Amino acid sequence: SEIIRIAVDGPGGAGKSTIAKLVAKKLGIEYIDTGAMYRAIGYKTSVKGIDPANLPAMEDMLSDTTIDFVGGSIILDGENVDGAIRTPKMSMMASKVSQLAPVRAKLVASQRQMAAAKSVIMDGRDIGTNVMPDAEYKFFMTASAEERADRRYKELVQKGIDADYDEVLKDIEKRDYEDTHRELDPLKPAEDAIILDTTGIGIDEVVERILGEVK
Ligand code: C5P
Repeated sequence: SEIIRIAVDGPGGAGKSTIAKLVAKKLGIEYIDTGAMYRAIGYKTSVKGIDPANLPAMEDMLSDTTIDFVGGSIILDGENVDGAIRTPKMSMMASKVSQLAPVRAKLVASQRQMAAAKSVIMDGRDIGTNVMPDAEYKFFMTASAEERADRRYKELVQKGIDADYDEVLKDIEKRDYEDTHRELDPLKPAEDAIILDTTGIGIDEVVERILGEVK
């Protein structure tokens, strides 16, 4: 049957992963969370005590690293790191290591392989512009920084993680700045992306909007 590749890009907290997961389920296609891959590298860098500015050490580490998805969970070197990577500290670490050329080269190659010859919905920052420029459908999801911080804050509290709203908002704004201003594959809508502003809009409505376009 026909292959459908859907790219979903946007800043942190816009609801990309929640919505992409639901769309994947509805369409019976695979969901790939590329942010989780950058988080996994950030996590390993931090656990190993490597300075991201030390490129040879980063390259050594990368050549000895495997990242897979098994049943929707992210597996780093054989270990499920789903829980460990979703903390405010790992958000910032991911943003830091994602600026490095060798990190992007490894992960983008792996993402392209995962999307080869099958239907996928992939979310991230550079999917429509760089990883799958020929995707059949491209969406760029945004929401106000305040609303994204509010969603992230509630998510953290629900997981029992100690959080402070003002700090979550500051982190979101800092990450927005870094992700849009970096040299390599910065966050920006692809020219042919459909822009979805989800401020004040429910999850189901956004899912319906995407399914409406894809049909
Ligand atoms: O989407 P998530 O918040 O999990 O992404 C964490 C970080 O990983 C982002 O802030 C961004 O710096 C980086 N990232 C990226 N390219 C992607 C996905 C994520 O640079 N395709």
